[in-house]
Amino acid sequence: MINDLWYKNAVVYCLSVESYMDANGDGRGDFEGLTRRLDYLQGLGITTLWLMPFQTSPRRDHGYDVSDYYNVDARFGTLGDFVEFTHGAEQRGMRVLIDLVVNHTSDQHPWFQSARADADSPYRDWYVWADEQPPDAVDGIVFPGVQKSTWSFDKKARRWYFHRFYDFQPDLNTAHPMVQAEILKIMGFWTQLGVAGFRMDAVPFVIGTKGPQVRKPVEQFDMLRDLREFLQWRQGDSIILAEANVLPKTDLDYFGDEGERMQMMFNFQVNQHLFYALAAADCRPLVKAMKQTKPRPSTAQWGTFLRNHDELDLGRLTDEQRESVFKAFGPEKNMQLYDRGIRRRLAPMLEGDRRRIELAYSLMFTLPGTPVLRYGDELGMGDDLGLPERVCARTPMQWSTEPQGGFTTSDKPVVPVISEGPYGYQHVNAAVQRRDPNSMLNWTERIVRMRKEVPEIGWGEYEVLPVRDPAILAVRYDWRNNSVLFVHNLSDTPREVALSTGLAGPEGRVLINLLTENHSNAAEDGKHHVLLEAYAYRWYRVGGLDYLLKRSDIETPARA
Ligand code: NOJ
Repeated sequence: MINDLWYKNAVVYCLSVESYMDANGDGRGDFEGLTRRLDYLQGLGITTLWLMPFQTSPRRDHGYDVSDYYNVDARFGTLGDFVEFTHGAEQRGMRVLIDLVVNHTSDQHPWFQSARADADSPYRDWYVWADEQPPDAVDGIVFPGVQKSTWSFDKKARRWYFHRFYDFQPDLNTAHPMVQAEILKIMGFWTQLGVAGFRMDAVPFVIGTKGPQVRKPVEQFDMLRDLREFLQWRQGDSIILAEANVLPKTDLDYFGDEGERMQMMFNFQVNQHLFYALAAADCRPLVKAMKQTKPRPSTAQWGTFLRNHDELDLGRLTDEQRESVFKAFGPEKNMQLYDRGIRRRLAPMLEGDRRRIELAYSLMFTLPGTPVLRYGDELGMGDDLGLPERVCARTPMQWSTEPQGGFTTSDKPVVPVISEGPYGYQHVNAAVQRRDPNSMLNWTERIVRMRKEVPEIGWGEYEVLPVRDPAILAVRYDWRNNSVLFVHNLSDTPREVALSTGLAGPEGRVLINLLTENHSNAAEDGKHHVLLEAYAYRWYRVGGLDYLLKRSDIETPARA
């Protein structure tokens, strides 16, 4: 197969227009500002941008409550500004993914307003109603502690409506053919304006059965095929990246056995176990999560991430594992959220320790899949725990030492810039880090470049190499007659590891370090004895630097 599935080896960067750059001085970011910052993103080596919702919305849930799917919220600019942005991204070789939030609308959406006002409205059936309060109205709450139920009474309709999330986000009746047709229309619209695909919000809920009689929603997986087919008929190389925090046993239902459904999914399973591994210096559950999520069609890809705009959801860990992650990374109650997660940014979780931050990133960049970075993490930005719920990790990007971190000329940004303590913009900002060769920003740029030179991760098959020490993770990827090997020490003490590459022949005797001059030659016993400092990481090419001369156009069975 020719390797032109771009998403298999992309570097994705997620951001919210609201928090990135304010060009018009009203205190919130906008498309004009973002477009001006495209050169920065190009410099960082990003290949794909994922934008959080920016459509017209009351923004009671950061835009995940859309009131007009066919417009840009006036606060961020116009459709014209949006097209300037997608054009600018394309000129710089970057693709754009946008959020597709169609499990629910805002309660202010004209569809809902019409549906509640008139029983005969054509939109009535676009939502999910009940005459009586369903007995399980307090089950299945997504935001415990903040959200009270999943059914609320609407005074105008004099009926109960279903909302999986907050009460201002009524669920769409996604089984309705007209709703399904509308979803395709929305996708077609934005595709026409230059997007390369969608990060699809809350996929299990979109395809789950809904209604007062439904006790346990059943996913209607065929819907995923319809979405994908439509999108690819319109624009062949567009993709859907699914937000589906599901158990590994259903992964193939989402990807499709033949890869006919979602092209990408976020790997929540690996994400949670990775944080456990970092907290406990124990890679065993992570390796198990990797094995469980290994089966996937060859055209499918995982999105690998550390933090995103939500809380770090630890709901899939055992109670004991979750406790150890809380203890290590979010010990105080106000660092935790929804009884299951941590709402902090990465750098403060890791106590600003550069070694641990690099280790975490090195893992993210070398685990199977396509890496997805969070804006500001390339600078080691912090959080503001004084802000409610998830807003604490959505503060404005810190560009410089200028007032408000160079984010806005307004002295009252809508979300305050972090301006105190070690993570304040005075210390953590792009302008200062650009000049410092050892900064986090320059480290990230370098690691992004290196990741792009290692297509084996995105395309190849991998094997976790057996090592005795649970604090060590050693993974080898093979692709087209080339192999790479990554070794990580998750503990806070130095470790010596003896490993064999698992490859027959003389090649496995030499490991060329891709990041330093610290190479390795196998000892007499055929093994590599690698001394790893605390939190160390190694990126090796197996064999030598003539690998590109050896690369083959097909898989070479002898190696596999
Ligand atoms: C998942 C999004 O990531 C989150 O931010 C949002 O609140 C919910 N879906 C509801 O749309």
